[in-house]
Amino acid sequence: MDDIQILIVDYGSQYTLVIGRTLRELGVRGIILPVKKADKWLKHNTPKAVILSGSNWSVHNDGAPGLPKMLDITGKKYLILGICYGMQLLAHKLRGVVEKPFLHREYGPAEVSVNKKHPLFKNVKEKTKVWASHGDTVIALPKGFISIAKSKGIAAMSNKNNRVLGIQFHPEVIDTTEGKKILQNFLTLSKCDKDWNPINLIHQIQKEVLEVVKNKSNVILGFSGGVDSTTLARILSPVLGKRLICVAIDTGGFRENELIELKENAKNAGVKKLIVISAAVEFIKNISKTIDGEEKRKKFRVVYQRIFEKQIKKHNADFIVQGTLATDIIESGKIGQSVMIKTHHNVGLAWKVKDLHPFRNLFKYEVRELARALNLPKSVYERNPFPGPGLYLRVVGTPVSKEKIKLVQEADKTVTDIIKKYGLTKNISQLIVALLGVNSVGVKGDERVYGHSLAIRAVQTADFMTVKGYYFPEKIVNEIISALTKHKNIVRVFFDMTPKPPATTEFE
Ligand code: XMP
Repeated sequence: MDDIQILIVDYGSQYTLVIGRTLRELGVRGIILPVKKADKWLKHNTPKAVILSGSNWSVHNDGAPGLPKMLDITGKKYLILGICYGMQLLAHKLRGVVEKPFLHREYGPAEVSVNKKHPLFKNVKEKTKVWASHGDTVIALPKGFISIAKSKGIAAMSNKNNRVLGIQFHPEVIDTTEGKKILQNFLTLSKCDKDWNPINLIHQIQKEVLEVVKNKSNVILGFSGGVDSTTLARILSPVLGKRLICVAIDTGGFRENELIELKENAKNAGVKKLIVISAAVEFIKNISKTIDGEEKRKKFRVVYQRIFEKQIKKHNADFIVQGTLATDIIESGKIGQSVMIKTHHNVGLAWKVKDLHPFRNLFKYEVRELARALNLPKSVYERNPFPGPGLYLRVVGTPVSKEKIKLVQEADKTVTDIIKKYGLTKNISQLIVALLGVNSVGVKGDERVYGHSLAIRAVQTADFMTVKGYYFPEKIVNEIISALTKHKNIVRVFFDMTPKPPATTEFE
């Protein structure tokens, strides 16, 4: 593999891995490291460019992370781009002024006027829509720098020879309409060559796993039949053969048909050995006592791990491999300095054997690309995601029971069928049908009913770091309500269009 051309220094922004992904979409790989590791890495490597990520920190806070000591801040060795906190850090270090002016705070969509003559903004509209999320702002530039974009304040800066750059907004977020163009201009300026290619990555993953597991060990793969574990199984089965033992757990929280699809996808992936463990009773028993989302997730993990450890022992395996994605790792607070949003069922578990996460730097979007490159069927690479804890996360604010799971399972099928009937599947990245712990009064056939409420949430997104609520046409809203309230115990249906942030995709 060629040398890494771009170093991304992670200051803990939720968007750091999105920078890496966007660069890959533009054909270039990058390495993401927290400051101390970046410092060590820079001792032995000279990239073509360094990107400093955003952060929750203010440069004025005690303990705020600084620049890697080894960083050549003149920009002579490599191009430097500071994004948000990264720009503030550069400005602060080079004796500009960073403050928190009340009127300059921006959270969410904003409009910026750019200097089109600057190469960073080549072919970008003079007034362009961006995604901003910052309290601090650079209010005075360091000596030798010019402002190259404006919003309410300085939105971007550059030194005179265009080697040290700063942008206050986030070009990596999809809501920055021309963000990709800006990053492409940055790649052009840094003279990076294209070096990302899915086939190379597949070979790299096979090599990386083989190097670790060697020729003898058995490997357990946590298989759910979703795009991630199916693609991973497809990548590893040719090199591991029968030594790859795919273990699926029927948690009792599956959607209708999930088990059938899971088995089909194991075949699609060329899996030689699939073991399905039925564990619904064990999961319900452990999870039904709590309604707290985070507690539920933690209990789910304990049972999940217990079952896997048994299989690891039974099959004398030395490794467990999982299709964990970058998104799961970031939101579990396990990458760099990221804040914990929720405990994912399979991230950060202390296994008795070594655990491998070959997709740890990838996003769903990229895994779908790998699946396509591997000629897996469309039903795999276009499959909507479904969380490991399944329908347990979709009984919200009320204890989980077998009956409530069944009710959500049926409701999910009803709404999914309506979406399919209207050909809307392509427009929706994920559908969530949840039973809410809100019982209320209804009237059916002249009789009072005291029954359940359901929430319908359809979202659109590229990477699940941010999502937008999908608005169903009125006719379909009415059809969904009518179909769901036919159930004798359902009296109310709510539609949830809240974006992420501030909400998350799942309810808990
Ligand atoms: P959130 O709710 O964090 O969800 O915005 C982002 C994406 O991740 C899925 N998700 C999970 N997937 N185990 C998983 O395998 C989990 O514990 C988990 N929690 C959320 C969620 O369905 C969405 O696609």
